[in-house]
Parts: sequence; C-alpha cells; structure tokens
Amino acid sequence: MRYVLVLLFSLAFNFASAGELELPPNQIEAGQGLYQEKCARCHGHDASGGNAPDIQGVILKDVLGSAQGVEMMPRIVLQEAEAEQIAIFLMSLAPDQARIRLGMD
Ligand code: HEC
Repeated sequence: MRYVLVLLFSLAFNFASAGELELPPNQIEAGQGLYQEKCARCHGHDASGGNAPDIQGVILKDVLGSAQGVEMMPRIVLQEAEAEQIAIFLMSLAPDQARIRLGMD
C-alpha cells in the first residue's frame, strides 16, 4: 500500500512539473518550423550549437533579447507569436534548463 501511494505521488508530481511549463505540442511543432527557417543555420538543427552557441532551453526573454541583435548575431525581425513559438520549441529541448531560467527550481 505504501508503495502504491509513493508511486501515485511521484506520478502526480511529474505531471505537475511537466504541466507548469505548458508546452503545447502544436506550438512546439510550429516553433520547430520557424526555428529551422530562421535560426538553425547558425545554432544547429537541434539548437545544440554550430556557428553560434547552444541555445537549448532558452526562454522567451532570451529569444526576444537576441533578436534585437547581439554582438555577433544579426537583428532578426520576429512577430511576438513567432518568438513565443520558437521559445516553446527551445524550452522543449531542455525543459530542466528552461525551468531554471524561469526561476521554477
Ligand atoms: C547569422 C547567424 C545567426 C542566426 C541566423 C541566429 N543567431 Fe542567435 N546567435 C548567433 C551568434 C553568433 C550568437 C553569439 C552572440 C555573441 O555572444 O556575440 C548568438 C546568440 C544567441 C543567443 C544568446 C545565447 C547566449 O548564450 O548568450 C540566443 C538566445 C540566440 N542567439 C537565439 C537565436 C534565435 C532564437 C534565432 C532565430 C530566430 C537566432 N539566434 C538566429 C548567430 C545567429
């Protein structure tokens, strides 16, 4: 009985922590398309780095900031919705990193 309770608790906990990030699959997919089109040639197809840093797990604030242009990165015009979808895709690649950046851990 105790085992069942522990199992139930941990399942509920996992569900809650995954839920807090709220990463809807259709948004991840849309973001992936935009990412491939606008970012992948520099940051790599899985955002793990290429000619530019690893950006797995970055959040909306980072995407918006970088799109203004950072030293070596050109300015990129993004609609708010596009930036959100790209961020959701990047968060989905490294949810633990994203949670830390969001201050959830
Ligand atoms: C032309 C190449 C290029 C493209 C395209 C590009 N980036 Fe970058 N990006 C860079 C480079 C180079 C840096 C490092 C800038 C520096 O530190 O001077 C960077 C830095 C960043 C950073 C900061 C990373 C850090 O560790 O501080 C983020 C976030 C980022 N890019 C997101 C994006 C997103 C999102 C896109 C697509 C919308 C994108 N980039 C498209 C070249 C690019």
